[in-house]
Amino acid sequence: MSTIEKNSNEADKLWGGRFTESTDAFVEAFTASITFDKRLYKHDIAGSKAHAKMLQKVGILTPQEVDDIHTGLDEIIEDIEAGNFEWSIQLEDIHMNIEARLTDKIGITGKKLHTGRSRNDQVATDIRLWLREQIDLISAELKRLQSGLVEVAEREAETILPGFTHLQVAQPITFGHHMMAWYEMLVRDFERLQDCRKRVNILPLGAAALAGTTYPIDRDYTAELLGFDCASNNSLDSVSDRDFAIEFISAASLIMMHLSRFSEELVLWTSAQFNFINLPDRFCTGSSIMPQKKNPDVPELVRGKTGRVYGNLISLLTIMKSQPLAYNKDNQEDKEPLFDTVDTLLGSLRAFADMMPHVTTNEESMRQAAMQGFSTATDLADYLVGKDMPFRDAHEVVGNAVAYGVETGKDLSEMTLEELQKFSDVIGKEVFEVLTLEGSVSARNHLGGTAPAQVLARVAEAKS
Ligand code: ARG
Repeated sequence: MSTIEKNSNEADKLWGGRFTESTDAFVEAFTASITFDKRLYKHDIAGSKAHAKMLQKVGILTPQEVDDIHTGLDEIIEDIEAGNFEWSIQLEDIHMNIEARLTDKIGITGKKLHTGRSRNDQVATDIRLWLREQIDLISAELKRLQSGLVEVAEREAETILPGFTHLQVAQPITFGHHMMAWYEMLVRDFERLQDCRKRVNILPLGAAALAGTTYPIDRDYTAELLGFDCASNNSLDSVSDRDFAIEFISAASLIMMHLSRFSEELVLWTSAQFNFINLPDRFCTGSSIMPQKKNPDVPELVRGKTGRVYGNLISLLTIMKSQPLAYNKDNQEDKEPLFDTVDTLLGSLRAFADMMPHVTTNEESMRQAAMQGFSTATDLADYLVGKDMPFRDAHEVVGNAVAYGVETGKDLSEMTLEELQKFSDVIGKEVFEVLTLEGSVSARNHLGGTAPAQVLARVAEAKS
């Protein structure tokens, strides 16, 4: 698909009637959107077909005319997909490129298609149709990633690793629990997308340029043909509103923020210092100078790409800021940030969904790490509370035992009963059950806790 650039004669323009000189060649290229909005061709054509059918229903076009329009538009889709459509900068955007070609193909009837509509309501319709489809694709990728996480969670429901706060070892947790924490973030992301979709799925067409049209149009019928939930209520708002796109990029930013957090953990966990997990070679790359390197490029890149989605959100908010009603050319700047957001998000989700089920764990390293930070100290305090000691006193006793452990290089579970009893004589030999990593995680057996039984319960729910 090539884009030709030529200086035009005013007579060639679909809007050339009132002009007395040709558009400046640079201005023509500067104001055109065809280089990026050609991506909307299918949705533009779907909108036009529905609009034509509606015009027939209300008696403005004849069945023969609508037939010709539909046939011409179908041919245009074929031409575009076969690479036989020459995009023209002179025709500015996707709407006029298609309309001009339709008129070439079917003659005067092609010129009737634009009755009762404007590019202002047309472009708003195209973006909504396109975005609705993208939201469905993104939702499917989200679900696929969730399934991958659930799969790993089930497999690693009992695998122990240290849980962190402040990136300091805090308490032992299960790997499955950690995977399901990511899963829960995506549950909210999915809901946000579905909620946003409701406000995307509203038909602006019929608003025409800004005030509506003098023709007896049937907007409910057009909405129904295009699968919109309803038609919009105010023509001025319909052509100028881009809230739905901003909402979508906000939801996308949150998803990227989550992926970026996952990425950060994967990068840490694959480092030699942690050595908790392995990523398959096919998701990593090497170094051109250091032969030993296997770099976690996919998570790093996803972490980096998060920045562009945040940038797109700020772009769109700023594009809309201070715009008076109704349509302004500023709005043409909505498409590139929106397209880039969808591409970035879909790519990032796809990479994660492909990769996550193949992550493997290094159980021994994770156990060692969990043993190193006195991660069962809270369990010892809880044990003392069970012996009727107030929690604050228990905290103090365990603090003393930890100080001794730091001095002697011993974990709490590695001390003898006599050593532990120096800090409190209520400690008995059954204390060692709570000081093991397994004892610690299984004891947290309530809704939302890290016990393998709880992980598996949530996994079962997630699967159903
Ligand atoms: N290419 C334009 C856009 O993307 C289409 C609408 C143009 N309308 C106009 N009156 N110039 O927003």
